[in-house]
Amino acid sequence: MATRNFVLTLVFCVFLFGFVVAQPPLNKAEQEAVYGVLESINSAVPWRSVFPDDFCSSAPHGVVCDYLDDDQGGVSAHITELSFGYVSDYSPNPLCAPNATLNGSLFSRFTHLTKLFFYRCFNGKSVSFPDFSSLGSSLEDLVFIENPSLVGSIGRNISNLKSVRKLILTGTNVGGKIPVGIEDLTGLEQLTLSRNNFSGEVFVNFGKLKNLKVLDLSQNQLVGNVPGTLGNGSTELLKLDLSFNGFSGEIPESLKALKSLEFLDLSYNRFGNFGVPLFLGEMSSLKEVYLNGNFLGGRIPEIWKNLGSILGLGLSNNGLVGSIPASMAVNLRNLCYLGLDNNKLEGTVPEEFSSLESVNELNFENNNLSGKVPFTANFVAQIGTKLKLQGNPELCVEDELKSNQFSVATTSLVQLKLCNKKPIVPQYAIFHGDSAPQAHNSHLWLLVSIGFLLLFSL
Ligand SMILES: *[C@@H]1O[C@H](CO)[C@@H](O)[C@H](O)[C@H]1NC(C)=O
Ligand SMILES: *[C@@H]1O[C@H](CO)[C@@H](O)[C@H](O)[C@H]1NC(C)=O
Ligand SMILES: *[C@@H]1O[C@H](CO)[C@@H](O)[C@H](O)[C@H]1NC(C)=O
Ligand SMILES: *[C@@H]1O[C@H](CO)[C@@H](O)[C@H](O)[C@H]1NC(C)=O
Ligand SMILES: *[C@@H]1O[C@H](CO)[C@@H](O)[C@H](O)[C@H]1NC(C)=O
Ligand SMILES: *[C@@H]1O[C@H](CO)[C@@H](O)[C@H](O)[C@H]1NC(C)=O
Repeated sequence: MATRNFVLTLVFCVFLFGFVVAQPPLNKAEQEAVYGVLESINSAVPWRSVFPDDFCSSAPHGVVCDYLDDDQGGVSAHITELSFGYVSDYSPNPLCAPNATLNGSLFSRFTHLTKLFFYRCFNGKSVSFPDFSSLGSSLEDLVFIENPSLVGSIGRNISNLKSVRKLILTGTNVGGKIPVGIEDLTGLEQLTLSRNNFSGEVFVNFGKLKNLKVLDLSQNQLVGNVPGTLGNGSTELLKLDLSFNGFSGEIPESLKALKSLEFLDLSYNRFGNFGVPLFLGEMSSLKEVYLNGNFLGGRIPEIWKNLGSILGLGLSNNGLVGSIPASMAVNLRNLCYLGLDNNKLEGTVPEEFSSLESVNELNFENNNLSGKVPFTANFVAQIGTKLKLQGNPELCVEDELKSNQFSVATTSLVQLKLCNKKPIVPQYAIFHGDSAPQAHNSHLWLLVSIGFLLLFSL
């Protein structure tokens, strides 16, 4: 029995040994390039002595080595993922030092890299955005998040990254034009270039990016028209965010081809004078629409019939005139947020708004609305401080609602005047002739009462 176990163990060990031996080592060029990158992001750590072995057997979290089938029917070892910058205790990627740098030429060694990720890595001295085009066709995710000292621009040959699906560069000072080469990345599913220093007009032919689901160019300094090619291809787009730029002209009607679009944010640009786009009414997948801070003008159109999926709608600060259509409240049954503040809207608040069940913020501030606020005490209790009505001098609230304990404590209703303010009947006129007592003057009232008591007791 013992012999049998021994033989089995031996067989197992030989098998295991054979298995380990059968794995090819990581080639020297990739091993050295990893050391090179680690040393450039943090030279204070002695990387070569901490990780002396093949990175396929031992590597810092964030450095991923894998055994891949090669062309000759064999297996070879390659670096497939590199993630730098501390993220959390659960994924403690190599920490970048304040003097971290980035030597782009090292990356040409990584022939099978699929994912490259930098989080809060470049936060000290300026580092130029490197030429990653040599990474060629293996790269799928190129992600930079919060790297403010990253500067420079992205070259046209970004188009070499043929397999890239996710290109995220957010929170850097990389600028210049948005590279036209991006239109050749036909596998792109997410293009996020928000919060950088990109400027000028956008000439990318978005019609070529048929797989795009997320396009976020928000918070840059982009100007000119939104390309009409947007919507001419990327019909799977779910999210489009162009907010906080200088885009102008008309919001292109081509957008209505984006039948799957759920999130549209064009706020704080310079779109102007064409009113709220009517074609929005045909985009029935929309869940959130923000057009705040433009110059749309005109009346709020009645386009809400097919937009029952909308949860959030912002039309603040747009020079809108006319009244608030009741059809908004009738059709937008799932509304959680509505911002119509800082326009020139007039007329009354339609009563239909008080029956919106899921709403948790209604902002009508700074318009010229008038008449009675239609909300019930229950509605007011539900929405609290997020019912914003100030800055409408002609808007009034009924005594009953205003004196409701909850509404007074927690809402802006307290700032509104009372409707049909009845003339104050001086309660104690009988005692004072034409000098009505003031409620707060309780001393005087006390004296008078005592006087009368004395008078009667005599
Ligand atoms: C980065 O700073 C460390 C000290 O924090 C220093 O030892 C190292 O030489 C510096 N590296 C470079 C490339 O300047
Ligand atoms: C970048 O790495 C290459 C090796 O790939 C090396 O020859 C070059 O000197 C490095 N550049 C800098 C600025 O360190
Ligand atoms: C990519 O373009 C840059 C200039 O933008 C150039 O320096 C570099 O050599 C190009 N790289 C490749 C691989 O073509
Ligand atoms: C941002 O871009 C402008 C040009 O549009 C340039 O003048 C400025 O220096 C850039 N800022 C940084 C921090 O690179
Ligand atoms: C949209 O695509 C069609 C062909 O699919 C083309 O004829 C048209 O010019 C394109 N429109 C824009 C604005 O690029
Ligand atoms: C506000 O509306 C009233 C009518 O309700 C009108 O008389 C007044 O001129 C308007 N004020 C502004 C600033 O538009």
